[in-house]
Amino acid sequence: MTERPVPASELYTDEFAADPYPSYARLRADRPVCPVSSPRFDSYLISRFDDARTALTDPRLSKDLYGPGQHYLRIFGPNSEGLNKNMLNSDPPEHTRLRRIVSQAFAPRRIEALRPRVAEIVDTLLDRIVPRGGCDLMRDFAIPLPMLVISDLLGIPESDHERVLDWTQVIRTSGSANRSPEKDRAAVQEAQLRLHQYLTDLVQDKRAHPADDLIGALVDACDRDGELSEQELVTTTFLLLFAGHQTTADFIGNATVALLTHPDQLELLLASPELLPSAIEELLRFDGPLPVASPRIATEDIEYQGVCIPRGSVVGVAINSANRDPEHFADPDRLDVRRERAPHIGFGYGVHYCLGVSLARMEAQIGLGTLLRRLPGLRLGVPVAELRRLPAASPFRGLLELPVRFAA
Ligand code: HEM
Repeated sequence: MTERPVPASELYTDEFAADPYPSYARLRADRPVCPVSSPRFDSYLISRFDDARTALTDPRLSKDLYGPGQHYLRIFGPNSEGLNKNMLNSDPPEHTRLRRIVSQAFAPRRIEALRPRVAEIVDTLLDRIVPRGGCDLMRDFAIPLPMLVISDLLGIPESDHERVLDWTQVIRTSGSANRSPEKDRAAVQEAQLRLHQYLTDLVQDKRAHPADDLIGALVDACDRDGELSEQELVTTTFLLLFAGHQTTADFIGNATVALLTHPDQLELLLASPELLPSAIEELLRFDGPLPVASPRIATEDIEYQGVCIPRGSVVGVAINSANRDPEHFADPDRLDVRRERAPHIGFGYGVHYCLGVSLARMEAQIGLGTLLRRLPGLRLGVPVAELRRLPAASPFRGLLELPVRFAA
């Protein structure tokens, strides 16, 4: 069956950016697999939970964007190999090799050892915020927290944090600045070029001055063991840096808004902090930062829900829609921090399941837990409808700013 594409003007509206969940509900009910046009690229969107999980492990859906077909051209554009030809955009056996090299560093036991350092970073950031009675929680807390943690882990010197953050923010907020699409594309390309040059130089610096950090370990894997090429060294560093802070930052922002707009749930959590780990999972299910999994490519004509997805199509798995599927979650639009554990796919599924899941959970638990404890009377600084968000078609779901007030 050939399906009429949903035009970008119908789906990616300002209303969708503010609250995409009614549109997702309509898609799940009427068009669970459908072609959609977006300002970025056209794709087939899969919106039901069972189909989403099947698609994330379907070997006919490839992640090898840099293989035959050069699918990356449609998705990232030319000259993107230097940053994006990494494990997330590859299939086994390359994916297995690239993931194995770094997976040790993200093992739960290793991550647990970082707990005191994460707590210290959280307290330092909050020490600056607490006396002020109000702040932009994205700028002052949600973005710097995971950025400082992943920079520590990788070994990015503190003196470079500001410019690295500037470049990654240009990439994250693409489409939202007051710029023409051409100027926006040029700004993103410029930020990518600078970040690429910076990471290439940093790797050389670590080679000249061996360091006991994750980039140092990757240099070893490249030079001593020959497990990584020079390009893979840089693309892996970029992936860990980018994936390691954007999603966590947006998650902390989204979770804070969800709690502040559901005061009964916030009260429950304040009264019973032991609910925090399960609340984090529920908040991720409720409004996650990665609404659609990274693009997959159909390697042959495939059928889902009676719809033919032609060979060569880009396929998006709508994680945030799947996580609200009533077939899988009772009363899915209700935020319930005491919800019985129901496995969501906020961290993905299959071989590309989030490598940083333990770190993300720990940062969110310490970050949100301490934030709620140390900022009594926390409330939104503007009505929820006035919050400035990333554009509807952004690959991320998050806030540009999160003004909050609290008792100083
Ligand atoms: C709340 C925070 C986070 C969320 C919601 C999240 C979510 C995800 C999801 C859904 C995927 C799978 C994408 C796909 O299949 O297309 C993924 C992959 C990945 N994540 Fe996370 N992530 C978070 C934090 C982190 C952190 C802190 C790191 C640390 C470095 C990280 C590193 C990665 C990497 C390297 C991959 C690619 C794994 C692979 O291709 O095998 N993530 N993440």
